[in-house]
Amino acid sequence: MSLSELFPETDYRFSMRFERKSPQEFFARTKNGSSLLAKRRQWLNSAPATYAGLLPEGQVFLEEAIDLAQSWGAVSPAGFSLQPERAWDDCLTLGKCLEPDFLLLQPDLAGSPRLLGGVVCFPSHWSLADKLGKPMSLIHEVVPGLNDTLGKQIGSFLNKLRPGVAWLRSNWGIARTPELNDHPSRALPRLGPEVTTEEVWLRLEHQALVALPKTGGILFGIRVEVIPLAELKREAAPTKGLIRALETMPDDLARYKGLATARNRLLKLLQP
Ligand code: HEM
Repeated sequence: MSLSELFPETDYRFSMRFERKSPQEFFARTKNGSSLLAKRRQWLNSAPATYAGLLPEGQVFLEEAIDLAQSWGAVSPAGFSLQPERAWDDCLTLGKCLEPDFLLLQPDLAGSPRLLGGVVCFPSHWSLADKLGKPMSLIHEVVPGLNDTLGKQIGSFLNKLRPGVAWLRSNWGIARTPELNDHPSRALPRLGPEVTTEEVWLRLEHQALVALPKTGGILFGIRVEVIPLAELKREAAPTKGLIRALETMPDDLARYKGLATARNRLLKLLQP
C-alpha cells in the first residue's frame, strides 16, 4: 500500500482496506533478506520464549504453515522435523527462515479466531506472550474504539477468507527508534514533547492474511518498515494526510499509540 493510500486527506479512521497479492510474493525473500534473517536469528537465539510461542493446539496449524511455506519456496524442507514432540524447534526454525513475523490462528465461527502460536521478532510495542491463547477481539481490546467500530467487519472478513490469496493491509505508527524490534521489554525511547525530526520514524506494519486450506486456520504475516520523518516529508500528499490524521485522532487512541504528549510537537515538525 502506498504512502498516499495510507494517509488520505481525511479525518483519522480505522481502515479495512485490503489488496490482494499471492502469498508466495508476500513471504518471498527480499534484497534485505540476509540482514533481516540475521536479526531474527539473534533475537530467537537470545530469548526464544520472548519472541516465539506455541500452544499444543497450534501444532497442526504450524505444520500446515511449514508445508505451505515450502510449497512457496520461502523455506527449504531441510531443518524441519515435523514430529509433534519437536514442534517447538520447528516453530523457531520457521521464524528464523521466514522474513516476515507470523501468527497462527484457529478459526472461530463467531468471528474471533484464537491466537495459538507464532514468531514475532519485530513487535510494535506488544508482547506475543501476553496475547497467546487469546481470541482476536480480546487482543484488540487495548486499541480504543477498534472492536466497537470494526470488530464485526473484521470477524466476518476472516470467516470468509479463502485459500490461495494473501489479503494485505497496513497499520502505521510513529516511533522514536528505527529498531525493528520494539518489544516492550527493551524499553526503547518513546515519543515526547521535545523530539526532533532526526529522532522520529514512521513505522509501517504490512500485514498479510492467508487461509490455511487443510486445517481452516489463518496465517497472519507481518513485515515492518521504518521511514525517517525527514524522508516522509519529501512527499507532500502523505505528509498532509498524516497531519490531518494526527489532528483528528481521538485522545484515547493517541495515548494508545504513544503519541499523546508528542502530538503538537509532531504537528510542528511536519509543517513544510
Ligand atoms: C483483519 C483485520 C484487522 C484489522 C483491521 C486490525 C486492526 C488493528 C489496528 C487498527 C490495531 C492498532 C494498531 C495501531 O493503530 O497502532 C491493531 C493492533 C493489533 N492487532 Fe489487529 N487487526 C486485524 C487483524 C488482526 C489479527 C488477525 C491479529 C492476530 C492476532 C491482530 C493482532 C493485533 C495485535 C497483536 C495488535 C497490537 C495490540 C497491542 O498493542 O497490544 N490483528 N489491529
